[in-house]
Amino acid sequence: MLSWEDYYKDEAPVKKEESKQPEPRVAEVTETEPVKEQVVLTEEVSAPLDEAIVTEDMNSEAMQNLENYTTMKEPTEAELEKVRERMANAQEGRVQVGQKAMINSKADLNQLVPFKYKWAWEKYLDGTANHWMPQEINMTADIALWKSEDGLTEDERTIVKRSLGFFSTADSLVANNIVLAVYKHITNPECRQYLLRQAFEEAIHTHAYQYCVESLGMDEGEIFNMYREVPCVEAKAAWGLKYTQALEDPTFETGTPEKDKEFLSNLIAYYCVLEGMFFYCGFSQILSMGRRNKMTGVSEQFQYIMRDESMHVNFGIDVINSIINENPTLWDEGMRKRASDMIVEGTQLEIDYARDTMPRGVLGMNAKTMEEYLKYVCNRRLTQINLPEAYPGAENPFPWMSEIMDLRKEKNFFETRVIEYQVGGSLKFDD
Ligand SMILES: [Fe+2]
Ligand SMILES: [Fe+2]
Repeated sequence: MLSWEDYYKDEAPVKKEESKQPEPRVAEVTETEPVKEQVVLTEEVSAPLDEAIVTEDMNSEAMQNLENYTTMKEPTEAELEKVRERMANAQEGRVQVGQKAMINSKADLNQLVPFKYKWAWEKYLDGTANHWMPQEINMTADIALWKSEDGLTEDERTIVKRSLGFFSTADSLVANNIVLAVYKHITNPECRQYLLRQAFEEAIHTHAYQYCVESLGMDEGEIFNMYREVPCVEAKAAWGLKYTQALEDPTFETGTPEKDKEFLSNLIAYYCVLEGMFFYCGFSQILSMGRRNKMTGVSEQFQYIMRDESMHVNFGIDVINSIINENPTLWDEGMRKRASDMIVEGTQLEIDYARDTMPRGVLGMNAKTMEEYLKYVCNRRLTQINLPEAYPGAENPFPWMSEIMDLRKEKNFFETRVIEYQVGGSLKFDD
């Protein structure tokens, strides 16, 4: 490893050699390596840098520059006018808030401020304040429970495996959708800043699932291939994937009503359905398990993920509504129906997943109560983008989920985690 003295040596003024012949250089060796022999570099490969790279052309160019410099004259009024014009044009290039738009803006994407979408920046700050890593969470109790023969029922084991199987791929799908389909078409830097944060959080989530799978000694091939091999998982993954594929074509550009609607559909698919619906059966199953003091490490991982996801959904809803507000003609009857149908279709897939993962009552819930809950979530997603409820009267049978979802509560939750973590305990769940 280099010491400070090494840097200092590098910065020391180089003595001017009298001879143009270079000193042979000696390759550095570390103290830890056995010194067999000093390797002396030959002149052929150790020609002085200045001689090796300075060509005749470059020398003549330098001479020309020097000559220009020494014969420089006062600029003429015409030349000064050109400079003034260039400066004025440069200032005109400064981004004004009014030039910013959610899609199809031509304003410079490198100028973060002035903010137009301050909420996006604030969500970015909230995201960074909620930073966490999977390794922070103690998995010891989970490992013991998972490996004990009578620790969990077969139905409970199925839920853990299905959840890790679905989520381990789903978060990759979301991350890929951001990078490959969404980012390019969002034309303001504050929302892009949040998207970058979100993409990183999705990587953390995938890491968390991998960490759970590894800690519990699960069959990695089985878990990471569920999105291809288990029909109820595959159906959800394939549903999301087709919306990414629709935008992956490098020639896809927003700017026409048809393309803008395609882009809007992608955002609705991912924020309202994939992150806003497909995660909710698995989240509530695992959190219910944690509330019963089972798989508390996995459950804790899921809580942090769910807190992040709640913010992702809120961000996406704000983006969707901003696009609609800025482009009201996109939100015509056809598009409203398309959006509503997508969210209802996604709800049905999640209900199918609930039935498959809960053939019997388990953890104080069953497929029927889950269906009621998912219809309640569906209504919420629809009304968040100003569409009528699809299941009027649906109620929330799991009020504890709403408490955990509430952002203020989650912030307090996080503070609790830090204190609990310092004393080596795990999170307490409210009933
Ligand atoms: Fe995620
Ligand atoms: Fe997410």
